[in-house]
Amino acid sequence: MKSLEHMHIAIIMDGNGRWAKKKNRPRNFGHREGLKALERVAKAANELGIKYLTVFAFSTENWQRPRSEVDFLFKLLRSTVRNEFDKLQQEEDIKIKVIGRIDELEDDIQSDINRIEEVSKDNDGLQLTIAVNYGGRAEIVDALNKALNSDIKAISEEEFNELLYAPEINNVDLLIRTANEKRVSNFLLWQISYAELYFTSTLWPDFDKIDLEEAIEEYNSRKRKFGKLPGEELN
Ligand code: IPE
Ligand code: IPE
Ligand code: MG
Repeated sequence: MKSLEHMHIAIIMDGNGRWAKKKNRPRNFGHREGLKALERVAKAANELGIKYLTVFAFSTENWQRPRSEVDFLFKLLRSTVRNEFDKLQQEEDIKIKVIGRIDELEDDIQSDINRIEEVSKDNDGLQLTIAVNYGGRAEIVDALNKALNSDIKAISEEEFNELLYAPEINNVDLLIRTANEKRVSNFLLWQISYAELYFTSTLWPDFDKIDLEEAIEEYNSRKRKFGKLPGEELN
């Protein structure tokens, strides 16, 4: 397998609800299992030596779900940040970041997020970035508003990138979406401009290290041309 040390993988973790439905369980049960899959996949990515893993946990559109589901998801997020993520950062040397409109979340979640980012900021393992209350368009508009509120008069792509939530994750190499949906759903619009896309019918709670390796294997077989002619590609 090629070196993965600069690789950025993004995942739209989809299918928790369908996974639960198949088992005649409530949707929230699927979300709980989905969280276990996230821990499993983050550890696997770290073991494989991947540099960046960015996952979609809650979109700006997901507020339109029933209140009980939204409340459950945030309850889960709270305890995950305090427990599972703390373990990942302590035991696996994983660096944790959260992107999205974090200032719109409840104060206690914001302080938990700030704490985990702070304590893990010097970790050398995988950077696990979790998108919460995240929308790709919202991110671009937020960056634009930062520019409008400064003395910037003109801007390059590189300078614009610096205004995004996490400038270091500027290029996604491989975008994975589970649960057989073939759409982007407002995730990382700026960062996926040259990403290889990979869709699988596996539902997110079933996704494991082997599924991740299969996706990477497929990625390694792709020819990335970046607009050039074959033979000059960089992959
Ligand atoms: C993804 O699973 C998790 C979130 C969007 C929070 P879904 O909840 O979308 O699961 P399906 O698509 O209904 O199966
Ligand atoms: C995308 O999944 C958002 C997350 C995985 C958090 P959705 O299930 O919300 O996306 P749509 O509604 O199928 O596009
Ligand atoms: Mg879904």
